[in-house]
Amino acid sequence: MSRFYVTTPIYYVNAEPHLGHAYTTIIGDALTRWHRLLGDDVTYLTGTDEHGLKIQQAAEEAGLTPQAFTDSIAPKFSDAWQKLNIGNDDFIRTTELRHKAAVAELLQRCYDAGDIELDTFAGKYCVACEEYYQDDELVSGPTEDGSISSDLCPIHQRPVEYFEEENYFFRLSRFEDRLLDWYGAHPTALRPEHRGNEALGLIRSGLRDFSISRTSLDWGIPLPWDPKHVAYVWFDALTNYLAAVGFGDGTDGYTERWPVDFHLIGKDIVRQHCVYWPAMLMSAGIDLPKGWAIGGWLLSGGEKMSKTSGNVVNPLDLIDDIGLDGFRYYVLADTAYGNDGDFSWEGLVSRYNSDLANNLGNLAARVATVVAKKCDGIGTAPDPDSALGAVAAEAYEQTVAHWADVQPSKALDATWSLIRATNSHLETNEPWKAEPGAEVDQVMGDALEALRIVAILCSPAMPDTAQAVWERIGMPGDVADQRLPEAAAWGQYPAGNDVTKGDPLFPRMKP
Ligand code: MSP
Repeated sequence: MSRFYVTTPIYYVNAEPHLGHAYTTIIGDALTRWHRLLGDDVTYLTGTDEHGLKIQQAAEEAGLTPQAFTDSIAPKFSDAWQKLNIGNDDFIRTTELRHKAAVAELLQRCYDAGDIELDTFAGKYCVACEEYYQDDELVSGPTEDGSISSDLCPIHQRPVEYFEEENYFFRLSRFEDRLLDWYGAHPTALRPEHRGNEALGLIRSGLRDFSISRTSLDWGIPLPWDPKHVAYVWFDALTNYLAAVGFGDGTDGYTERWPVDFHLIGKDIVRQHCVYWPAMLMSAGIDLPKGWAIGGWLLSGGEKMSKTSGNVVNPLDLIDDIGLDGFRYYVLADTAYGNDGDFSWEGLVSRYNSDLANNLGNLAARVATVVAKKCDGIGTAPDPDSALGAVAAEAYEQTVAHWADVQPSKALDATWSLIRATNSHLETNEPWKAEPGAEVDQVMGDALEALRIVAILCSPAMPDTAQAVWERIGMPGDVADQRLPEAAAWGQYPAGNDVTKGDPLFPRMKP
């Protein structure tokens, strides 16, 4: 059994979970469910990022201690993930002891390797990014009081703050060639390619040492050799990926699951994940991740959804309107991973109606109706040589390839090609017009077999719907317990199952 370890970014607890957070978390969930179908031993990790100035300030605004504040927000993330049917195996909080131990261990290793040194630092800092910026990286624009400033953060368009302090620095500049060599030797580690090229561009444009400690702040993890400094929030946060698999517990047990197979990240945190993080790991003598899958943003009204922009959509409100699986499907199917997507209610309803109500829902309903009328409600066997068998085999191959490439929208489109072909197969043969008999039995057997395969292939995206289809065509047990590739082979639907119709899976929504 191969191991498969996938992580999401850990989310800042200064905001409540929103659609932007749900986006990556649902993609990771579907990807890891797919790997469970392949029989892999999966570890899916998510969690919360709880240290740093941004959180300390949010706690002050809420009139709470940072610990009480983070304790109040972190469960909102785990609750949201439960409501979205996220099957994470672990949820890490950076305020946990296991995490603190791992950060101390990683810091010490990099310090012992000579890659962390003390220096004085003066510079402009964006609290929202928790990043220093050089003057040439800043942008001009209006500030909240209406004046124009040329000192705005390029990501948040908010004024940066001037900080001067004694900091420890991580000597990132020493790693430029080593990183380029490593990426050169691992050309598929960063995907999709266009996002990977952005990361390589950052390295090629020259690497500057970065500050990894603060003395002006105490909401963080102290440096083991100089505890009046606390670790920079990104050094702290990135280490969660190691902490969760046991790094820092005094054993080498973490290597059972490390290196991670995929870090799922947004395009805004490429520098930290694809430049800082591998350099930190190289310094500490730890293997580099096997892959990074870099997503775009889900925009709302053309802007990244964020608390600062005030365009936050709460995923839990959407589920009430469109159903959990309708929502999950939309998130997975509507945007090619790596590109930006634009969230709109109209887009959500239109995709729901076309792919779910008119395609999958319609297929499930018409199969059950015809089987009830023409086959006494009892499922019939497929034709082992049906043309649909070849379509199913091709759909399966494509689905596998696209999941392997972390392209859920393409994987689902490949799965949907079987749904579309099965609907056409029915429309060509019109079993609803024919007299009951061997011919109708075979057409319906083919359609039932296609539905069996579709239920398996769409289960990572829509676990509840897949199980409902599975049960309606009379298959026993849990669809999630099926194993690929065996279960996708054509011809396994057994004659004699009870087929039931049930309520419409996806009632059409008014546009
Ligand atoms: N805490 C850091 C990550 C540390 S990981 C070691 C952080 N947190 S965040 O909550 O601000 O954002 C986490 C991720 O969510 C980022 O990858 C970001 O791209 C993603 N998203 C936040 N809003 C988003 C959208 N509107 N659309 C898609 N993803 C977005 O950064």
